[in-house]
Amino acid sequence: VSGRGGGVLVTGATGFLGGLIAAALLRETRGPLVLPHRAERAPGELIERIARLAAADGFAAGAADLARLAPVPLPATDALEQLLPALAAHGVEEVVHAAACLDYFDRAALESANVDLTRALLDVARRRGIARFVYISTAFSAGYVEGAVGETLHGEPAQGDPTDYTRTKRRAEGLVAASGLPWLILRPSVVVGSSVDGRYDGKPYGIYQLWTAGERLLTDRPSAALHFVCPPGPAHTIHQDAFVAAFLAARRRLPAGSIVNLTSREAGLPSARALYDLAMARYFRPEVVYYYEHREDVPEEALDRRQRLFLEFTATNAEIAAHPWRFETPTLDRLRAEGLDFRDATLETLGGCLDRFVARSARIQAYLARFGPTLAAAPRAVDVPGRGRAARAPA
Ligand SMILES: NC(=O)c1ccc[n+]([C@@H]2O[C@H](COP(=O)([O-])OP(=O)(O)OC[C@H]3O[C@@H](n4cnc5c(N)ncnc54)[C@H](OP(=O)(O)O)[C@@H]3O)[C@@H](O)[C@H]2O)c1
Repeated sequence: VSGRGGGVLVTGATGFLGGLIAAALLRETRGPLVLPHRAERAPGELIERIARLAAADGFAAGAADLARLAPVPLPATDALEQLLPALAAHGVEEVVHAAACLDYFDRAALESANVDLTRALLDVARRRGIARFVYISTAFSAGYVEGAVGETLHGEPAQGDPTDYTRTKRRAEGLVAASGLPWLILRPSVVVGSSVDGRYDGKPYGIYQLWTAGERLLTDRPSAALHFVCPPGPAHTIHQDAFVAAFLAARRRLPAGSIVNLTSREAGLPSARALYDLAMARYFRPEVVYYYEHREDVPEEALDRRQRLFLEFTATNAEIAAHPWRFETPTLDRLRAEGLDFRDATLETLGGCLDRFVARSARIQAYLARFGPTLAAAPRAVDVPGRGRAARAPA
């Protein structure tokens, strides 16, 4: 990608991954970075945030660097061509599309952010004649399929979709691939904080959803027993620094038309159960923890309200995690072999993210200060055998 001034348009820069991408491009490129943001967002705050993210990664952006950041109000989707003058003014020849709706249950917002906005942006990119369109998708865009998830475009999944999120992300991938533009699709699994110091400034998605639910619901008093739905498989996660490193390497090295699954090596990943054990042993410390494979197996009627709320709040992610996801990663393996430093998530590095989360949680700190001496030293874990879905289905 070179030629007309090397500007890059990054969508979603007010969000978690878009912010990290913009900060990384600030460090790694020299051209303007055009950052469309929704009207209610203040452009000054966006610039400050990108500067802060870059600084956290060791890059002190000077005035000349910050002058390359060009926040622009995002026009309505049906008037997105209003971006064209800004793209021309800043010599944009690449688009990195990281804006998306991740609200599993807001079907209309998923459709408009993930499908309609992507379609309109591709149209603008075509009119501009850009040299590459990078789409940030998700490892789960395959939906529920049997066997490993390959690095090809997915058809409709035989076993359906976990949510409309995965369906709309898959649809967007299809639009990108059919756009006629040179494209690259990156599919990260669940992105967690830094492998170095655990810092994270994303929303409470993925394992942060569990930790946030624990923080909000389980710290008002000590619990004798806690009950969690916890499938046995690996917790498919990647660290934010590994995501950024892979994004930069993919952008530098891969030919157009590449799809890259981005997840940590399965062998080193802890199970979701091991992650619960860690949080329970280090911080929540009930006397006993009961683990169930499926929600149907939990005796919910016997649980207190906060426990039921916890199960409700985390149910969809628990269900998604119960699917035996396996991801093929030939492209990531090749990038690693060529020198990419991609730090896999392990129990230890995820423990670092947990420690950082807890250190910054006023509620968990107050819980530990108040009840610490009375909490169990080492919670006992009990795996409750499942009665299984079939056995519970009505006759
Ligand atoms: N986080 C993960 O673990 C993860 C894992 C795999 C894939 N991904 C993918 O990575 C991308 C970024 O996710 P994220 O975690 O950074 O999410 P995020 O923090 O929620 O950020 C989403 C971004 O998209 C923007 N956005 C949402 N709806 C929009 C709309 N209708 N029109 C315009 N902009 C809209 C948001 O703008 P506002 O700030 O104005 O709301 C924000 O900038 C997404 O494509 C997601 O599918 C994320």
